[in-house]
Amino acid sequence: MLFLRRLVHVCCPSAPAGSVLDSRQCVFALTLLTLLLQVVVEANSWWSLAMNPLLIPEAYIIGAQPLCSQLVGLSQGQKKLCQLYQDHMQYIGEGAKTGIRECQYQFRHRRWNCSTVDNSSVFGRVMQIGSRETAFTYAISAAGVVNAVSRACREGELSSCGCSRAARPKDLPRDWLWGGCGDNLNYGYRFSKEFVDAREREKSYAKGSFESARLMMNLHNNEAGRRTVSDLAHVSCKCHGVSGSCSLKTCWLQLADFRKVGETLKEKYDSAASMKLNSRGKLVQRDSKFNPPTSHDLVYIESSPDYCLSNQSTGSLGTVGRLCNKTSEGMDGCELMCCGRGYDQYKAQIVERCHCKFHWCCYVKCKRCTKTVDQFVCK
Ligand SMILES: *[C@@H]1O[C@H](CO)[C@@H](O)[C@H](O)[C@H]1NC(C)=O
Ligand SMILES: *[C@@H]1O[C@H](CO)[C@@H](O)[C@H](O)[C@H]1NC(C)=O
Ligand SMILES: *[C@@H]1O[C@H](CO)[C@@H](O)[C@H](O)[C@H]1NC(C)=O
Ligand SMILES: *[C@@H]1O[C@H](CO)[C@@H](O)[C@H](O)[C@H]1NC(C)=O
Repeated sequence: MLFLRRLVHVCCPSAPAGSVLDSRQCVFALTLLTLLLQVVVEANSWWSLAMNPLLIPEAYIIGAQPLCSQLVGLSQGQKKLCQLYQDHMQYIGEGAKTGIRECQYQFRHRRWNCSTVDNSSVFGRVMQIGSRETAFTYAISAAGVVNAVSRACREGELSSCGCSRAARPKDLPRDWLWGGCGDNLNYGYRFSKEFVDAREREKSYAKGSFESARLMMNLHNNEAGRRTVSDLAHVSCKCHGVSGSCSLKTCWLQLADFRKVGETLKEKYDSAASMKLNSRGKLVQRDSKFNPPTSHDLVYIESSPDYCLSNQSTGSLGTVGRLCNKTSEGMDGCELMCCGRGYDQYKAQIVERCHCKFHWCCYVKCKRCTKTVDQFVCK
């Protein structure tokens, strides 16, 4: 990494004098950077940072100014933040990636499986529809960024934040110490809000327009994602004292495992509120029978396509070729997954760990067995 840092430095107009690299190495570095930059062109959202190999901190050393402005996925405000907080960009990319990965896990058995279409547009046109799926995607990406930035603060990776300085919880037993180095949720939340919401905040649309409804929807779901991370954060403690007596405890603020965030947001997806614009240009729930959604809930404004067939105009990839479960009556069952088109049956060989034995002490040894299973694939 140090080598790369030097390479990058030498080609930068602001590189310190007396750099030791020769021109061949310089050409190599420039070629590398050009390649990296090509990947991000055409990107239309900060989500593209997740796909972006640029997110090596070293790349930001080359007078980050031009680099930030070339990141096409960023809005004007996000480019400014990129310049001011260069060391944060890597974690924004990681956060987006964590969010997308978790989305794919949560939706692995659904027709829409959160697959990314290509590196540049990330999710393709599906996100142009103000659907539940879009709501989930915005929320989990924003949540991913809170998660990544809060952790990076704790780990000392960022110059403008450190361990959490959250106040001691009132219900913490008196003799427990508060002040282990915690995840800096406060900073992560604020930075994520500023960065992720910047894109929406820069726009202004006519009151009552569809675009204004979509903008409010996006902001609401970004916030719901951040609050989910915040709601799930908890106090974690460690024992000290002579030979594990636990006479002394040190406690700190800890973010929940991101899987838990994914599960919670998936539940919120299932109970997301359908919204419409009222005459004063505000989003209100379509069905006033239900309690109005809070800032912790997901909201959407358009119904979802059925995602059955590939459709260029909606961006749906369709379910042709997807695996399904013959005996399940859920969304992963062949009937629903294949939208009634039927399925093909294959014999597939899978390799498993088997005949596992426990050996004293302490490991488990397994054999590998091959097993033939029936697989069902949508027509
Ligand atoms: C997408 O990224 C992968 C690696 O991240 C790369 O191998 C592939 O060529 C890229 N595809 C496009 C279309 O840029
Ligand atoms: C694609 O979806 C749009 C909008 O739902 C629909 O009007 C159109 O007929 C679809 N096209 C195909 C080829 O299915
Ligand atoms: C998600 O669905 C697409 C389109 O049907 C398919 O190409 C892709 O392999 C699926 N991804 C996973 C992880 O199942
Ligand atoms: C298929 O679905 C059934 C019922 O939900 C479940 O018990 C079974 O484990 C599933 N099979 C696979 C391969 O996922």
